[in-house]
Amino acid sequence: MGLRIKSGIPGLDKIANGGLELGSVILLSGGPGTGKTTFSLQFLIQGALDGENGLYVSFEETAEDLIRDASAYGWDLEKHIKSGKIKLLHFSPFEYDKFKQEFSLLLKRNKIKRIVIDSISGIGFYLKDIYELRKNIYELGKTVKNNGCTAIMTSEIIAEKGYSRFQVEEFLSDSVIVLHYGGLGGDFDRSLQVVKMRRTKHKQGLFAYKISNKGISISLRQA
Ligand SMILES: Nc1ncnc2c1ncn2[C@@H]1O[C@H](COP(=O)(O)OP(=O)(O)OP(=O)(O)O)[C@@H](O)[C@H]1O
Ligand SMILES: [Mg+2]
Repeated sequence: MGLRIKSGIPGLDKIANGGLELGSVILLSGGPGTGKTTFSLQFLIQGALDGENGLYVSFEETAEDLIRDASAYGWDLEKHIKSGKIKLLHFSPFEYDKFKQEFSLLLKRNKIKRIVIDSISGIGFYLKDIYELRKNIYELGKTVKNNGCTAIMTSEIIAEKGYSRFQVEEFLSDSVIVLHYGGLGGDFDRSLQVVKMRRTKHKQGLFAYKISNKGISISLRQA
């Protein structure tokens, strides 16, 4: 088993047999509003607490939006930005090539250990075809690993169909975590599934999770 890092999501490390694998690429997919951005912010804040610098590359919300999202959960992103532990960058999908050129240097210059790319669906609409998308996800993953980082890439799912927007993303990542709407009812009325986690004996099936004013937490009761 490779080295593990804390996900920052209460409950997830137990499901993942001790945490997320250092140096892996995790696809986090789900429909709109299932909590992909919240999960990703939590992952970077855990890194900031553990001395692992984080980079959030957003192709959707601006840095101001993300700061606002985090503050709704009581998380002070600006504090971590000022101390250099978290860096937020917003690119339009049309600036993808610029991002790609800068990516490796950004990781080195800021001693980044944790990365979020939110979302690769946005990039997929910019790139011309599935071949280009596969090639680019592969190259991004390689840069992540060459720099000893762990990355979350988010993806939309349309109408609960498949594991990602273009249905190739899941084959290029080490792990796939899917967020669904339906859950157990009551407080934990959403469910999460670790579909795959290479090199890990993870727990199978659906787990109920909730989004509260403290962010995402998972119940270890199975949904
Ligand atoms: N303070 C809160 N308490 C409870 N639920 C909240 C709170 N803040 C946000 N939410 C829930 O979280 C959802 C948004 O989560 P988030 O933005 O992380 O989802 P997302 O999957 O990134 O969405 P999108 O597909 O739009 O990018 C809201 O739609 C709402 O249901
Ligand atoms: Mg989002």
